[in-house]
Amino acid sequence: MSFSNLILEDYDHVRVVKINRPDKLNALNTETIAQLSEALKAANQDENIRAVILTGVGEKAFVAGADISEFAQYSIEEGKGLSAKGHDILFNYIDQMSTPVIAAVNGFALGGGLELAMSCHIRYASSNARMGLPEVTLGVIPGYGGTQRLAQLVGRGKATEMVVSGGMVDADGAKASGLVNEVFELEELLPACMKLATKISRNSPKAIGFALQAIQAGYEPSKAGLKREVELFGESFGTDDFKEGTTAFLEKRKAEFSGK
Ligand code: COA
Repeated sequence: MSFSNLILEDYDHVRVVKINRPDKLNALNTETIAQLSEALKAANQDENIRAVILTGVGEKAFVAGADISEFAQYSIEEGKGLSAKGHDILFNYIDQMSTPVIAAVNGFALGGGLELAMSCHIRYASSNARMGLPEVTLGVIPGYGGTQRLAQLVGRGKATEMVVSGGMVDADGAKASGLVNEVFELEELLPACMKLATKISRNSPKAIGFALQAIQAGYEPSKAGLKREVELFGESFGTDDFKEGTTAFLEKRKAEFSGK
């Protein structure tokens, strides 16, 4: 597979994976998801790679979400398929990798972008980063693990507030709630991630793989939640609110939703 939407760079035992669609704020279309899946599988299977840094190209966005223009016309079944396949090939895959993945959140991390960062094992952010799950403003719900992983990181109350308000938090707010571990000025972000990755790469790769498996096993009960998320994400695609929300985004206007 050619990685037309990614830039890959190796520094000793560290691989940096950059999502490279800056004109679309690195929005995740299905092609980019497939390429990320392949790139991360290759890194996980590469004997020489002991840590991965995942980031976005440009100074504005890590990833501004799933590509709305791609799924706006999807049916309920296609919506379920989109979510289930994403979980399978990318979001759950990262969570289960034996090589640690550090998300370098260099700007907007919204919707699928925040879900991608939350699938990573560790998150560092730049001071200009803004994070949120705005799906309900589009008439849909988070479909790449956001209904489960956000609560695991920040607690159920804060997660519910973020999901139902669709609002964003800034970098300091994200650090205060545990959504990111550390905040740096933008130009310091990648060097800080590299320092951490280098430290990781000096430790036992086998022990790290075991530790990640043990940590991950503690969150197994969320599998039921992930399954329900796929079903309800798909159901959203059958509503008038979904049509209105996605059309309004593409027409660059505010959505007007009907009653329950
Ligand atoms: N899907 C598809 N395209 C997207 C996108 C997404 N999630 N996020 C941004 N883009 C595109 C815009 O359509 C625009 O494309 P255009 O120049 O061809 O019109 C380009 O990226 C730049 O975005 P723009 O909205 O003009 O930048 P902004 O600075 O005014 O606003 C955001 C930045 C992040 C607030 C805004 O882009 C946004 O709200 N994005 C969607 C976030 C979202 O709802 N994500 C969840 C999806 S499930």
